Amino acid sequence: MTALPLIAVILGTRPEAIKLAPVIHALQASPHLRTEVILTGQHREMVDQVMQLFGLEADRDLAIMRPRQSLTDITEATLRGLETYFNTSQPDLILVQGDTTTAFAATLAAFYQRIPVGHVEAGLRTDDLYNPFPEEANRRLISQLASLHFAPTPQAVENLKRDHVVGSIHCTGNTVIDALLQVAAQGIPCPIPGLDWERHRVLLVTLHRRENWGEPLASIGEALLQILEEFPDTALLLPLHRNPVVRDPLQAQLGSHQRAFLVEPLDYHLWVAAMQRCTLILSDSGGIQEEAPALGKPVLVLRHTTERPEAIAAGTARLVGTSTSGIVNAARELLSDPQAYARMAQAKNPFGDGTAAQHIRTLIEQWVMARKNSIGSAE
Ligand code: UD1
Repeated sequence: MTALPLIAVILGTRPEAIKLAPVIHALQASPHLRTEVILTGQHREMVDQVMQLFGLEADRDLAIMRPRQSLTDITEATLRGLETYFNTSQPDLILVQGDTTTAFAATLAAFYQRIPVGHVEAGLRTDDLYNPFPEEANRRLISQLASLHFAPTPQAVENLKRDHVVGSIHCTGNTVIDALLQVAAQGIPCPIPGLDWERHRVLLVTLHRRENWGEPLASIGEALLQILEEFPDTALLLPLHRNPVVRDPLQAQLGSHQRAFLVEPLDYHLWVAAMQRCTLILSDSGGIQEEAPALGKPVLVLRHTTERPEAIAAGTARLVGTSTSGIVNAARELLSDPQAYARMAQAKNPFGDGTAAQHIRTLIEQWVMARKNSIGSAE
């Protein structure tokens, strides 16, 4: 009996783990496929927690994370680690997600072994190579090498067509909605010591992007202080990314404010609970721009570009940049004008209906079958 086709799912950071968890579950349930989960280890604690929450186990862990690792460190260690893995295991397809350096380096490593790549969340573009950095370049490079492109939205499909990518393009929805709906349905509380969800309007904030390191981060921090001062009924909940380049300056600037709650990265189910309960989200994250519309939460995007124009079009997200006055003005409008707030706080779902992972599994099964038939008929 011949072995079933092997799909290796490769991931390294928290968002990849969240967005691939539904896909891994769907693949593991397929009677036609075998699945292996490979962690690069680009992130450690932040991924371990998600793996646990979704009941996932890694088949291999390259454990590459180093303190203050550079992009070169991540790329080099991933290429080497995956070469070793491919020497012992020959997947028929690898799956990567999004735009991280793990996803790009894994794609390149597979390409060097002539192993086809499936790209989950393909086709996002800002059309500004350095914004976000290095993610815009990572996703473009992956698109050039992948054989299966799983685009979340019609806009992403158009972007891929425009780039004349090789391989097949499929519109599947975004798998983050699968994960989000599953967790949001549990309706769990989000206890934060000292924070009163009833008494305070909570501003939920996340920051980690490389383009915002240094001066932009300081100007965002100043905006947050000014908003806290102007609106005494607000509180700030800021789960700090593990990266010391981000965490240290934020802690110094905001840590001593009475209504600023700087906490460790929240477990995903608590994070979802916090999004459900907060008043307003301010963030430089990409994924949050997808989650917030589904929950009807206004997001002020602390960046100059977005690869998720669907969230802007849906009306739930607004690009406000990183200047103190721009952020304060936008927040002031939402905190003091109930109509402006209501216009933004409408649940819409431009990123999918929660069935993306099933679509992706079916497409992979069909692809594997078609490939087997074409190899069989060529023999
Ligand atoms: C990475 C991705 C980014 C993604 C983000 C999600 C790249 C280039 N960037 O950025 O696209 O949005 O993850 O979080 O791939 N650290 C820990 N423990 C952890 C995770 C990180 O200590 O579990 C610290 C380490 O000191 C590490 C630093 O954070 O050096 C930065 O991590 P890195 O993966 O280089 O970049 P991120 O900013 O997390």
